[in-house]
Amino acid sequence: ECFNSPYGTKYFPEYAEKIPGESTQKLSEVAKECSVYLIGGSIPEEDAGKLYNTCPVFGPDGTLLVKHRKIHLFDIDVPGKITFQESETLSPGDSFSAFDTPYCRVGLGICYDLRFAELAQVYAQRGCQLLVYPGAFNLTTGPAHWELLQRGRAVDNQVYVATASPARDDKAAYVAWGHSSVVDPWGEVIARAGTEEMVLYSDIDLKKLAEIRQQIPILRQKRSDLYAVEPKKPW
Ligand SMILES: *[C@@H]1O[C@H](CO)[C@@H](O)[C@H](O)[C@H]1NC(C)=O
Repeated sequence: ECFNSPYGTKYFPEYAEKIPGESTQKLSEVAKECSVYLIGGSIPEEDAGKLYNTCPVFGPDGTLLVKHRKIHLFDIDVPGKITFQESETLSPGDSFSAFDTPYCRVGLGICYDLRFAELAQVYAQRGCQLLVYPGAFNLTTGPAHWELLQRGRAVDNQVYVATASPARDDKAAYVAWGHSSVVDPWGEVIARAGTEEMVLYSDIDLKKLAEIRQQIPILRQKRSDLYAVEPKKPW
């Protein structure tokens, strides 16, 4: 999350870029060079005088497939203790963001978006089998909720959930928890980074996903006559 910028509202205006811009141009080139789908973390994005926290996705030919603008901004104000208002400088995105690969459909969120079960549920309803969230939890919220939320989203929706955090830098203004992870639809953490920079590999096993959905068919057995989570906007 915000890999081209220190994490803090006062830095975003200075480090924000247009898309395409310097950082996303590089991501596009690398996606093409390696012929891979590349979910490019996030950067502060400037567009028409507004700033967004944006995750751009590139296809194997280097084209921009979709960009997710963080939907839920993190505003907290505990008087005398902590104030962090993302909305001081950022505007929220207003769209769901998913893209198709030859393997499966992928849904996107950024950091705080992970706390909102409805978003993940909408993605799952629309056929996403993998949800990816770049995010930077801190040393309080990280140990408390980082893994729990990923496992929750994964089990609730029987999907794979992958997160990518900045590595820990104890001298940074914002100290990130680290621990990028991949969780399977059973809720098991199948890959977990430490706090340092590293490359994490994991297989997304769609056969296992199908088996779990068959064994415990919650997606088919929802009582939509009693409750529903519906997108309020077409996408
Ligand atoms: C992390 O963020 C939470 C929520 O804003 C805050 O309450 C807490 O003090 C922060 N912890 C650290 C170590 O910065």
